[in-house]
Amino acid sequence: MKNKNIVLIGFMGVGKSLVSKILGETLKKEVYSTDDWIERKEGLLIKDIFAQKGEELFRQMEQDAVSYVAGLKGVIIDCGGGIPINPLNMQHLKETGVIFYLEAKPQTILNNIQGQAHRPLLNTENPKAKIEELMARRHKFYQQADYTIDSDNRTGHDIAADILKILNK
Ligand code: S3P
Repeated sequence: MKNKNIVLIGFMGVGKSLVSKILGETLKKEVYSTDDWIERKEGLLIKDIFAQKGEELFRQMEQDAVSYVAGLKGVIIDCGGGIPINPLNMQHLKETGVIFYLEAKPQTILNNIQGQAHRPLLNTENPKAKIEELMARRHKFYQQADYTIDSDNRTGHDIAADILKILNK
């Protein structure tokens, strides 16, 4: 497993970025975020890409980001929440990595994202309903991960510890 990438997927607000950072520091590996990669390439924030170019183009950019990061070796990949809905993305990521799905309930996600305004899909009147709707659609894609990690009301360190335990087996 040494040269395989460690790939984190899951809904917005489950803690992928925090857990990636902890894993990166613990394992002394580089961390790549697909959202950061896109923002740097476009010179725009994700919310402005959605507003100016639309979601469809953003999904295309995600595919390019995955092609790039899945081509790396031995890194940690923090995937935007929508990456797994494109089967090509999951195929690429699986070829070179072990995929962990950080799973949390809509209420946990809602609590985690409260006060954050940078996620265009959740800037709605009723974010809880939106989370439930998207989660119902996405669950089957997330479940294609190699491992599912319970991320409900757990700290980033607890979640990272579970992942490290699996990697050390
Ligand atoms: C999205 C998740 C976001 C970001 C964009 C769309 C999604 O990333 O890519 O706002 O469709 O779930 P995070 O999961 O890192 O918040």
